[in-house]
Amino acid sequence: MQIAMVGTGYVGLVSGACLADFGHHITCVDKDAGKIQRLNRGEIPIYEPGLHDLVRTNVKHGRLTFSADLTATVAAAEAVFIAVGTPSRRGDGHADLSYVYDAAREVAAALQGFTVVIIKSTVPVGTGDEVERILRETAPSKDAAVVSNPEFLREGAAVYDFKHPDRIVVGANDERAREVAAEIYRPLSLNRAPILYTSRRNAELIKYAANAFLATKITFINEIADLCEKVGGDVQEIARGIGLDNRIGGKFLHAGPGFGGSCFPKDVRALIKTAQDHEVPLRILESVASVNENRKRAMARKVAAMFTDGLRGKTIAVLGLSFKPNTDDMREAPSIALITALQDMGARVRAFDPASIEQAKSILNDVTYGENAYACAEGADALVITTEWEQFRALDLQRLQKIMKRPIIVDLRNIYPFDEVSRAGFDYACVGRPPSPRARTGADRRRK
Ligand SMILES: NC(=O)c1ccc[n+]([C@@H]2O[C@H](COP(=O)([O-])OP(=O)(O)OC[C@H]3O[C@@H](n4cnc5c(N)ncnc54)[C@H](O)[C@@H]3O)[C@@H](O)[C@H]2O)c1
Repeated sequence: MQIAMVGTGYVGLVSGACLADFGHHITCVDKDAGKIQRLNRGEIPIYEPGLHDLVRTNVKHGRLTFSADLTATVAAAEAVFIAVGTPSRRGDGHADLSYVYDAAREVAAALQGFTVVIIKSTVPVGTGDEVERILRETAPSKDAAVVSNPEFLREGAAVYDFKHPDRIVVGANDERAREVAAEIYRPLSLNRAPILYTSRRNAELIKYAANAFLATKITFINEIADLCEKVGGDVQEIARGIGLDNRIGGKFLHAGPGFGGSCFPKDVRALIKTAQDHEVPLRILESVASVNENRKRAMARKVAAMFTDGLRGKTIAVLGLSFKPNTDDMREAPSIALITALQDMGARVRAFDPASIEQAKSILNDVTYGENAYACAEGADALVITTEWEQFRALDLQRLQKIMKRPIIVDLRNIYPFDEVSRAGFDYACVGRPPSPRARTGADRRRK
């Protein structure tokens, strides 16, 4: 099938490349002409494992092309995906739908023949109705149907997730549109990925409810971690103990510095706003948002607590800037609030991330960057692990001991066993885990 992908970002590019790999003919369009030029030169503008090879193979076989010409691309397509951004609207937290509506107007003007317009962007309930209205208003004589097909891929595992989804949600009120969606995803249904056909409004709500639930799960375990710290519990044991219950499940129960990223924070805010507009306040979710917001700066206080004389003048090495491993995405990463709070307390911050330093440079001020974890840690008063990249899981602790000014590690991802870091002579703090008696003795000795 000839398909247009409008918006070639994290979702559009991965979806386009994967659909091309299924055998469809995809043209990815973007209004960022520089991005299209880079893609046409064979460069991949984002860091996403497996994406480079997938794009190269499908471009080579002529199934995947990139274009800045939306009109020609849409005119030739039987289905048009809209995968543009829906960030938080400045000031009020509603989803900013201006990119979706602009794209819908441009698509409407370019339609030729019956076309299915598939909204893959995460959009509040009712947006499909508005897109349908825009299509009718802009191009009254054109024949189009609007489908909601939210995306559930995770950055860092996006290609795998797109090809092995837990489910595909198709919200369509039109039988012809359903048939087109079924044909697009037929290769996945052969792999037994369940396709849930539902109404457009239900599909829009499913996406927000899913993200809100996962954000709630993370926030829940983070609060349990705080309680563990006070009462001598170990949150990892608690997470395992509850996660083995099939009704709960073990995923999204890792305590840490709070959720961030391009989706959870903005989607939680947008759902809260939608619900308020309909006079159905979502109290649980409102708490999730505020607990999570406070948590990020609280992590800086955790670092400060390692010193008896505060952070002023101290050099803090931060390992990991992206909101999670295997991505360069810095949108709403917990590292941003953490670093700002450390700087507010008077610390100098040095940082390293395997993929997102370029992004970080346009977001963070007064941060110096190391070439690797050790260059970052050299001479530092403390090392803070913010993102659990694989390469931070087995740091040479003896080497760190020698090059750091003080042996302090604050592990916000709980990737080190207490005993191991303590044996290497570090004063160690983490999230929701008590020091073993041996480790506590070591840390106390050093503080004195
Ligand atoms: N990133 C994720 O992990 C993820 C996962 C699931 C769902 N989503 C949702 O998917 C949507 C896209 O997210 P993303 O992370 O890919 O965003 P992104 O910012 O990486 O990409 C959006 C792209 O759309 C382009 N664009 C905007 N308006 C356009 C127009 N009129 N014509 C052509 N191109 C246009 C932008 O230039 C940009 O390249 C959002 O609604 C997001 O919530 C994202």
